[in-house]
Amino acid sequence: MKKLIIGEDIVKSFETAGKSQIVLDHVSVQIEEGEFVSVMGPSGSGKSTLMYALSGMDEIQGGKVIFDGKELSNLKEEALADLRRMEMGFVFQQPHLLKNLNVLDNIILPAMHDMKGQKALCIKRAKHLMKTCGISELEDREITQVSGGQLQRAGICRALIGEPKIIFGDEPTGALNSTAAQEIMKLFLKINTQGTTILLVTHDAKIAAQSERVLFMKDGKIVNALKLNKYKGKGLEERTKKVMDQMQGLGV
Ligand SMILES: Nc1ncnc2c1ncn2[C@@H]1O[C@H](COP(=O)(O)OP(=O)(O)OP(=O)(O)O)[C@@H](O)[C@H]1O
Ligand SMILES: [Mg+2]
Repeated sequence: MKKLIIGEDIVKSFETAGKSQIVLDHVSVQIEEGEFVSVMGPSGSGKSTLMYALSGMDEIQGGKVIFDGKELSNLKEEALADLRRMEMGFVFQQPHLLKNLNVLDNIILPAMHDMKGQKALCIKRAKHLMKTCGISELEDREITQVSGGQLQRAGICRALIGEPKIIFGDEPTGALNSTAAQEIMKLFLKINTQGTTILLVTHDAKIAAQSERVLFMKDGKIVNALKLNKYKGKGLEERTKKVMDQMQGLGV
């Protein structure tokens, strides 16, 4: 399998009040093309920071990140921004859609930059995605008039409109009830089956248990990894328990 992301010996530190804190402590990680990987770990363990490092959203102080064969630190700011916009999609806990645009216009917005003059094609793509995500009927709806789960689906459509190679999700189900969270997870699984690589930070063992591999972080390090594909035949309950056992092992 081709590696989509290779992170080698990543060091990330923050300066606060004159003191330096190491938040990613020589982290190495590889994500294969088409893989679905979750990241779990206590609050403050560095999960979001790892995601920002791997997507080039944040500079790192040591090590390197190679995304689809390109070393991020060798790219100029503009090339990096292009790479992020065209090859990566981001989904956060809150989708941050624009209130003055309806759902459809929010979804096509990122693609309009790269597909100038092709609005009809953007709309066609958006409508297809909205169908996949089960929100076809919301096209003209104001952002303030949809539920949290629907809003997150719109956020996922927006992340997918540029046909990225990977979706980075930082607790995308964190603000949802368990039924809505499960629906969103189903959607991620469908998107993954269609070929998009997914890296998902989550606090929910049941969500993580549905991915192929779970990385466990503690104090800025990946301290453990659990391959779940080998349990594919087994029930979700059993896999969830395996994930929870690992979390307990971290003292969480
Ligand atoms: N911009 C920043 N400036 C200074 N310190 C930061 C900054 N961003 C994160 N940190 C620190 O880095 C550490 C890791 O933060 P990070 O947000 O990656 O944790 P996390 O695992 O995503 O936690 P959570 O589960 O709460 O989202 C924390 O100690 C945090 O306080
Ligand atoms: Mg976080």
